[in-house]
Amino acid sequence: MSAVLMPRPAAAQRLARLVDRAPRHRSRRIKLRPLAVDDAEPLWQATRNPAFNAFLTWPQPAQRSELDERVSRMVAQARARHVCLLSAVDIASERWVGLYRIEPDPVWGGDGWFELGMWVHPDFWGGGYAGELHATGTALAFQESDAPGLAARTAVANPKGWKTLEHMGFKRTAEYEEPSEGGPPIPALAYCLLRGDWEQAMAVAAAA
Ligand SMILES: CC(C)(COP(=O)(O)OP(=O)(O)OC[C@H]1O[C@@H](n2cnc3c(N)ncnc32)[C@H](O)[C@@H]1OP(=O)(O)O)[C@@H](O)C(=O)NCCC(=O)NCCS
Repeated sequence: MSAVLMPRPAAAQRLARLVDRAPRHRSRRIKLRPLAVDDAEPLWQATRNPAFNAFLTWPQPAQRSELDERVSRMVAQARARHVCLLSAVDIASERWVGLYRIEPDPVWGGDGWFELGMWVHPDFWGGGYAGELHATGTALAFQESDAPGLAARTAVANPKGWKTLEHMGFKRTAEYEEPSEGGPPIPALAYCLLRGDWEQAMAVAAAA
């Protein structure tokens, strides 16, 4: 029987499926739902800690209105299916734990790759939530799409960011300069995780 090569669905369709399927993906402590305008409140609280913004590509907002506008823009981009933006919620307390972003990779998006990004509220730092959220988001991206691989980028000066990726099996591929809003470019690291490597790691974990 000859293999039939199916065309890859359009990016918007692939992102819509991730949003639809996200509520099925949860970890021991975290569940996922679409980012909402009301999530501006816990995100505003997170940005009161300068360390939260230190490694983002946008500066700490001085006014609540700046943050509200940013969140409204993000929600609009997600509704237009340019990006999949998910809020991670603590199952026990219903508190907003952080944000998970999945979008077509700027470099390999044409080949179906997604880029991942993550923020965790400082109240949840150091408790293993970052690893749990990345495991949940990575499983969502691979299980609910045909992506051959996932990419992620983080600042050289953000060891918490790149250690979380390395724990997930991401491999460092390049050092480069990431543009930032209103500031100098940030020395950054690019990482990737191939589907085959992720599937192998999942099989090993399941057998352990
Ligand atoms: C990056 C982020 C998601 C990590 O979450 P966290 O709960 O703070 O991280 P953890 O406490 O789980 O630490 C992750 C790893 O970094 C290590 N680490 C913690 N503090 C560190 C420090 N100051 N220097 C070096 N490593 C450190 C931890 O030990 C852990 O590694 P380990 O599992 O080998 O012990 C979170 O800090 C965050 O959202 N920051 C703001 C936004 C951001 O930077 N997003 C990532 C952009 S890619």
